Amino acid sequence: MLRTHTCGELRINHISLEVTLCGWVQRSREMGGLTFIDLRDRYGITQLVFNMDKNPALCAEAVKLGREYVIRAKGKVAERSNKNPKMPTGDIEILVEELSILNTSKVPPFTIEDNTDGGEELRMKYRYLDLRRQVNRKNLELRHKLSIETRNYLNSQNFIDIETPYLIKSTPEGARDFVVPSRMNPGQFYALPQSPQTFKQLLMVAGFDRYFQIVRCFRDEDLRADRQPEFTQIDCEMAFVTQEDILNTFEGLAKHLFSSVLNIKMDDFPRMSYDEAMSLYGCDKPDLRFGMTFTEITPFMKGKGFRVADDAEYLVGIKADGCAEYSRKQLDELTEYVKRPQVGASGLIYIRYSADGSVKSSVDKFYSADDLAHILKQFGAVPGDLVLILAGAIEKTQKALCELRLEMGRRLNLMKAGEFKPLWVTDFPLLEWDEETKRFYAKHHPFTSPKPEDISLLDTDPQKVRANAYDLVINGTEIGGGSIRIHNKDLQHKMFQVLGFTEEDAANQFGFLMNAFEYGAPPHGGIAFGFDRWSTIFGGGDSIRDFIAFPKNNSGRDVMIDSPSAIKQEQLKELSIKINSEVAR
Ligand code: AMO
Repeated sequence: MLRTHTCGELRINHISLEVTLCGWVQRSREMGGLTFIDLRDRYGITQLVFNMDKNPALCAEAVKLGREYVIRAKGKVAERSNKNPKMPTGDIEILVEELSILNTSKVPPFTIEDNTDGGEELRMKYRYLDLRRQVNRKNLELRHKLSIETRNYLNSQNFIDIETPYLIKSTPEGARDFVVPSRMNPGQFYALPQSPQTFKQLLMVAGFDRYFQIVRCFRDEDLRADRQPEFTQIDCEMAFVTQEDILNTFEGLAKHLFSSVLNIKMDDFPRMSYDEAMSLYGCDKPDLRFGMTFTEITPFMKGKGFRVADDAEYLVGIKADGCAEYSRKQLDELTEYVKRPQVGASGLIYIRYSADGSVKSSVDKFYSADDLAHILKQFGAVPGDLVLILAGAIEKTQKALCELRLEMGRRLNLMKAGEFKPLWVTDFPLLEWDEETKRFYAKHHPFTSPKPEDISLLDTDPQKVRANAYDLVINGTEIGGGSIRIHNKDLQHKMFQVLGFTEEDAANQFGFLMNAFEYGAPPHGGIAFGFDRWSTIFGGGDSIRDFIAFPKNNSGRDVMIDSPSAIKQEQLKELSIKINSEVAR
């Protein structure tokens, strides 16, 4: 080895030891005949000292070192006179006797510090420098630990890690596919997997019983802070199990990860049906770090001559404790917030229940003091509280109030970092109606099993059919989702029919699975977790990009390697692809 120790490990008990360190020059400074250099590697930073009086030639060398030069320094560990309690190595320094430059470096385009001066696009372009920053290194270390502990746990539970192919046929997870042209089969394309869904089901038919894979998935969809075009799943499947077995097994995994990675012992996770989540929080991934649940007040507001209420299908509100004294300006801001197109409400109704017991609302014209008192009672409001109400069509209003609840949570600082509130959401609807295409889509995917007691509704009232499907939510983020699968060929067939697949389409796309189901498919089910999202939640981050070594930007580009990019004419020809010259430009 070129070094005897790392830059993070020397302590006071190493005093007088002769050591050799290697690393990057973080910064250097000169002071009264001494040159100090902070030497950084993956493990930490150690201070090097060069003494002008003792070794002027070496000191002259040290002064020439630029930021990010790669050096090797040999010397003795000494106790520092000016200790730095903020650094693990802050009690010691190295009195350097020999120095070699292993490589020079251009001046980096941004500072390699936690609080860097580099903007995001620039740091993405030089991601290898960005990754030298401690924050990023720690994120990837956390990700590594999660991966190892996931493998440990699943291995201990008899799960077997099996790789499935990347060059496949379209998988129906609801996004667009990334496709890969086949040179050997002109005009034909592979699709990259949106998930290994069909393969893991085939592994159950093959008898593997308990499968997992930490696997890359590809989805061509609009990007957000919690979405990347290629992302990683902890993908799992089990045979001979009920939904209860799956929830317990993977709650076990989650608890293991909380304790082994974060040293937090979690209680049993609460569960909530989809319907309950929608009526209490207006969404299927509620953040349970704070309450502020919905109260429906439709019957209490209608029939008093207030048009908005009389015309509304649904009136629903939240109570913000202790916010009665919100100023006009604050209430105007909230009104503007709910009127944003992304939130979509037409206006905001408020009732202030002041600390002195007086009540003032934005709808005083239509409601008597008794009416308002009655409404406040529904919310269990006490003096000092503020009630915020939205009106409109059910789904739209639930969504808008969900956003307003989260905004109030942010304003009141109710979503505390370091606090974790997991939740299982169960009993999702099997199908979703799409007004535009006038057809049903599978809410999860077409292999999800309906609840046995709801199967008869498939013919009469498909929208009412509930699925044996579940999501794991932590702090308002969907971390994972899965279902018990259909393992019966006839039921799978029926499902394809309800989803509007022709016999031919179903056979073309999923014939292999239907065939497999004729050879003794066991009852099975599974789940997949978003590994990048899980890392981000555990690391307290805002964007999954910070927990991926080489992520894409918001336009799906890797600005470091400049991809996607055009390919040569010869390559296109080989692949039998003609590109419209307009597009190519
Ligand atoms: P689903 O589509 O719900 O289920 O995906 C599982 C989990 O993967 C994560 N995820 C993503 N993470 C980052 N970027 C994305 N673009 C992205 N899309 C999804 C989420 C999500 O909960 N085959 C089924 C699982 C099953 O039924 O077993 C599936 O893929 O955290």
